[in-house]
Amino acid sequence: MNPVDSPEIAQVAAAARVAVSVCHGDGIGPEITAAVLEVLAAAGARLDIEPVEIGEKVYLQGVSSGISDAAWASLKRTRLLLKGPLTTPQGGGYKSVNVTLRKTMGLFANVRPVATFHPYVPTMHPEMDVVIVRENEEDLYAGIEHRQTTDVTQCLKLITEPGTRKIVRYAFEYARHHGRRKVTCFSKDNIMKMTDGLFHRIFDEVAAEYPEIAADHMIVDIGAARLAARPGKFDVIVAPNLYGDIISDIAAEVAGSVGLAGSANIGDSIAMFEAVHGSAPDIAGQDIANPSGLLEAAVQMLTHVGQGDVAERVRNAWLATLEDGIHTPDIVGEHTTKTVGTAGFATAIVERIGRHPRKLRASSLANAKPMAVSIASTVANAAPVTKALVGVDIFLDFAELKPALLGARITEALPKSATLKFITNRGVKVWPQGFDETFCTNHWRCRFMPSTVQAEHGGANDAWVLAIMQSLAASGLEVIKIEKLYTFDGKPGFAQAQGE
Ligand code: NAI
Repeated sequence: MNPVDSPEIAQVAAAARVAVSVCHGDGIGPEITAAVLEVLAAAGARLDIEPVEIGEKVYLQGVSSGISDAAWASLKRTRLLLKGPLTTPQGGGYKSVNVTLRKTMGLFANVRPVATFHPYVPTMHPEMDVVIVRENEEDLYAGIEHRQTTDVTQCLKLITEPGTRKIVRYAFEYARHHGRRKVTCFSKDNIMKMTDGLFHRIFDEVAAEYPEIAADHMIVDIGAARLAARPGKFDVIVAPNLYGDIISDIAAEVAGSVGLAGSANIGDSIAMFEAVHGSAPDIAGQDIANPSGLLEAAVQMLTHVGQGDVAERVRNAWLATLEDGIHTPDIVGEHTTKTVGTAGFATAIVERIGRHPRKLRASSLANAKPMAVSIASTVANAAPVTKALVGVDIFLDFAELKPALLGARITEALPKSATLKFITNRGVKVWPQGFDETFCTNHWRCRFMPSTVQAEHGGANDAWVLAIMQSLAASGLEVIKIEKLYTFDGKPGFAQAQGE
């Protein structure tokens, strides 16, 4: 009997239906999306599908965001997107459409479960069962980049207090909802004390509200190494955007194949589900791509919209297929009995709908309650603080790579209201008393503080900053940017220089 004809599926098909926007994607996207939709239909998913155009084709039609107006309208209606992987054309100033989608729709949490399917999919680490909760909107992905001198480019790393609270709270809520025991925070706060330091501090604060869940912190470099070597030690990991991106590819590869992992992008009222991998142009159109990553994402989506019964049927049929040794080429190993293409793999899953795996742990999702996400409303604004301007960092483009010469030029030009505290190059103090060996570029950060005279007249203020800038410009020095230095309740909101 065709699975769609079974009485059980006919019965559930009549239940509440959910509208979903579906983007077939680029590269291998159309092949794996067709395979996934075939399995979902056969399992009786109660979905009304709205196809949407997003990606390379749309870019090439001249829409620089890569997302058509009709696609935006569909997303506003359905608030749910199942998305095949997308190609971001290199060069040409195109912004990643994935990042645009995540940020525009406020999808702050990227949830990537990675488990192994030992012994059916070859892996070095059978014990792995990790969920990575990656912050999805901030960090270096803010995309604020500048070239400031001929030598130097910069990218702003933004870590915000509300953004961090949202993602960390989500990670703990996820752990509680799914019966997980530990949340590990990855950061690099030994080096980035303000940005990653904020992430770690908020993690510690939020962790205290979940006493039943263990919490620990690791510096991201050793954390990533341990994840690759001993993944069984981890349960849920929460990380800022870039580290989260890197470790989830490491985790997927350690589990067996980057083609196996799915991800959920969760916002307060919209959600998007996709594979972890990209559009794999190297194997597009060959019917060899593994649709499992997108299928796992679809299982997450079905649970999210309250169709746990369908999610369970899909996942167990898929596990039974893996267990029967029916594999796409990327996961072929000693347990493979038949190598199939993308379409053949979908057919094999459809044939197994209604079956459970015998050795792999079967999924029981039928009664899984969707996880309620209204995290934003639980994030209170930061407590009021006294913010005071105490100085300014002014960045100069100065071609002669001689710190002593620049120090003398600035001192000569400076109004009596300010003193030059130090000059750094790439963050290292080079004046006063630098080190001849320190490598310099034409990008100089100069820290100014109010002179004693100015301190007696109220200290730093905007007019004081402008007067310094004007004096520097009048003496022929080129200001490229400024950063005001504030204290917050008396605590400095700026880092010291290396060697200060
Ligand atoms: P990729 O993930 O597309 O491919 C990396 C390697 O993994 C390739 O050798 C590929 O053949 C293999 N692979 C990926 N998915 C597979 C699958 N389902 N089955 C079997 N093998 C698979 O990464 P790459 O090559 O760096 O990026 C290609 C394009 O994808 C780029 O334009 C990139 O911007 C985009 N991309 C899109 C993402 C998304 O839509 N969420 C995520 C990552 C990259």
